[in-house]
Amino acid sequence: MTQELSAWRGGITAIAHSNIALIKYWGKRDVTLNLPAAGSISMTLGGLNTRTTVLFDEALRSDELWLNGQRVDDPKMSTFLDRVRRMAGRADFARVKTANDFPTAAGLASSASGFAALALAATRAAGLSLEPHELSILARLGSGSAARSIFGGFAEMSAGQAQDGQDSFAHQLAGADHWDLRCLVTLCAQGPKKHGSTDAMIHTAQTSPYYEPWIDDVPQALDRARAAILSRDFDALAQVSEESCLRMHASAMAAGPGILYWRGVTVELMHLVRELRAQGMPCFFTIDAGPHVKVFCLASSAQALEAKLREVDGVLGVLVTHPGQGAWVEDEHAS
Ligand code: PMV
Repeated sequence: MTQELSAWRGGITAIAHSNIALIKYWGKRDVTLNLPAAGSISMTLGGLNTRTTVLFDEALRSDELWLNGQRVDDPKMSTFLDRVRRMAGRADFARVKTANDFPTAAGLASSASGFAALALAATRAAGLSLEPHELSILARLGSGSAARSIFGGFAEMSAGQAQDGQDSFAHQLAGADHWDLRCLVTLCAQGPKKHGSTDAMIHTAQTSPYYEPWIDDVPQALDRARAAILSRDFDALAQVSEESCLRMHASAMAAGPGILYWRGVTVELMHLVRELRAQGMPCFFTIDAGPHVKVFCLASSAQALEAKLREVDGVLGVLVTHPGQGAWVEDEHAS
């Protein structure tokens, strides 16, 4: 057995997909507990994966994190593991190995798949077996969007009202085989995003005159998106998703100073998507806290659409994703 394998004997490996919000989460009602100010709806993205192995080890003197093969310090991960230790009533530190098969921290929601995979792997490695909604609550404490990646297909996150956040978790709206959509993740820039989502949300809430109207508008969008997904009404989903995306960005842009995630190519792609839709190709765009444009379409138009997107100047690549399953445990190494 190689040294690497023996170091991980007894570890638990979990895999989670990223997700893309159709109705955006942008604002917190409690920053410490990471409670969203409004609900959100997403599709889990099969094809964008985080794979995380966790091993608790009494010989360790601190938590050890390996990200994409590099040893890194991440206080947020240790805080997260502290919660797991408290839940499991144990004090030993953990070795964590995690890898994304897509660009990390570039606005592709690596925190969503990362904390979903960590929540599942860490709790199982600590000897806990949580219900999906409990895992969703735990994942939320790492990153709000991670609460949705616990579930496959289409997920809805509830803002909840309880001060302790026990009613703030996601649930599945429809499974991965409900609707054969594609989400074409169109890469528009390299490197990490310029404004982390937590700081940007707080800044928007504190300084944007559009923040409150934005939050007040979310419930009607959730109702429309939920109905469109359940009835597979592509045009209705296109309309409400683009509105949600543009309203989220409008609230951030109106902050003081304004937060601007888009590049020129981002805007070119939005125009192209609308032109193609006007010509009869069912497609729509959405954009998170970064420059990349995610374009939804039916599976039957994915190939033609991908070719069109690749022709645009400044597009660095296109990742074709589909509704994926919820987070799962891959295997348990023999201990
Ligand atoms: O949960 P975070 O910190 O990854 O923030 C997510 C924010 C958006 O991606 C812009 C919207 C969303 O709902 O995923």
